[in-house]
Amino acid sequence: MAKPINILAIESSCDDTAAAVIQDGVLLSNRVATQDMHVATGGIVPEVASRAHLQQIEPVVRAAIDNSGLDVRDLSAVAFTQSPGLIGSLMVGATFAKGLSLSLDIPLIAVHHMEAHVLANFIDEPRPDYPFLCLTVSGGHTQIVVMHSALDMEVIGKTLDDAAGEAFDKTGKLLGLPYPAGPQIDCLAQQGEAFFSFTEPQIDALDFSFSGLKTQVLQFVQRELRKDEDFIEKQLNHICASVQDRIVSILLNKLELAAQQTGITQVALAGGVAGNSQLRRDFHSLAEKHQWTTFIPAMKYCTDNAAMIAMTAHYLYLESRFADLSVTPSPR
Ligand code: KG4
Ligand code: ZN
Repeated sequence: MAKPINILAIESSCDDTAAAVIQDGVLLSNRVATQDMHVATGGIVPEVASRAHLQQIEPVVRAAIDNSGLDVRDLSAVAFTQSPGLIGSLMVGATFAKGLSLSLDIPLIAVHHMEAHVLANFIDEPRPDYPFLCLTVSGGHTQIVVMHSALDMEVIGKTLDDAAGEAFDKTGKLLGLPYPAGPQIDCLAQQGEAFFSFTEPQIDALDFSFSGLKTQVLQFVQRELRKDEDFIEKQLNHICASVQDRIVSILLNKLELAAQQTGITQVALAGGVAGNSQLRRDFHSLAEKHQWTTFIPAMKYCTDNAAMIAMTAHYLYLESRFADLSVTPSPR
């Protein structure tokens, strides 16, 4: 019997320290330590994030290995997120992975975080066939890709400015909501109606833009506050519903166009914003209209996690795409 392929994966690109172990493409363990201190600063302070990764990485990796039921000597390779992300955060994961690779004398695998978000759709069954479309929506990125195979990702649309998650977080901040505001806007919007209309940006092709929406919301709120200083308090649910409605329609209009242009009918979501209830609901309605087959990873695999890094590393391992110890992380 062939020896199993056991890969330890580390994800530290932003503010979550995560580790996972996968055996022959089947997840054995998945651990994450979040950094709550960024709530107080209303956003991530990169140096604070790096220091927290340094403290958390050893216990998180140890827990992932212990939970997998394997011994560290059973590992076939160690993988880490190489890019994109905060450079200081990425360096903690990269350096830890290199140390393990060197001391255990096993290959090192460098993973692209955005490819991994898409491949989160392969952690559980059913898995998409190729080619499939994926709308990846997170706090740092928004893109539409065609997956021709596990390691052949073609970006056909991307944001020209803010990411969808940033649009949620930045508008939330100006409404006085704590960081990250996405989940809370989702929650408040469920008690509101999309009464206020914000215009959709006219952007060519399959690209997105969200910075204009943020400015529109700011100007709208400032105007209303001059008439009624309690405007935000009184209308918060409706403002949230209106902002969310516009963000979701911007995303899904482009996804619909991408499906029309490519003729692809297998469509997936990925990234933290894929947890948004309206996005999920409207995505399923659109899928019904066009008879798409849809895929959305479980919520714990939508937000940043190491299981998706492990899944991607598994495919890289099968093609012997190993990294040299001189590899360096890259923010973009
Ligand atoms: O994928 P992720 O965990 O981290 C990045 O790679 O960025 O995504 C985090 C983003 C944040 O902007 C957060 O506000 C947003 O996902 N988010 C949501 C929801 N849950 C998380 N946005 C809207 N509705 C949600 N339910
Ligand atoms: Zn991410």
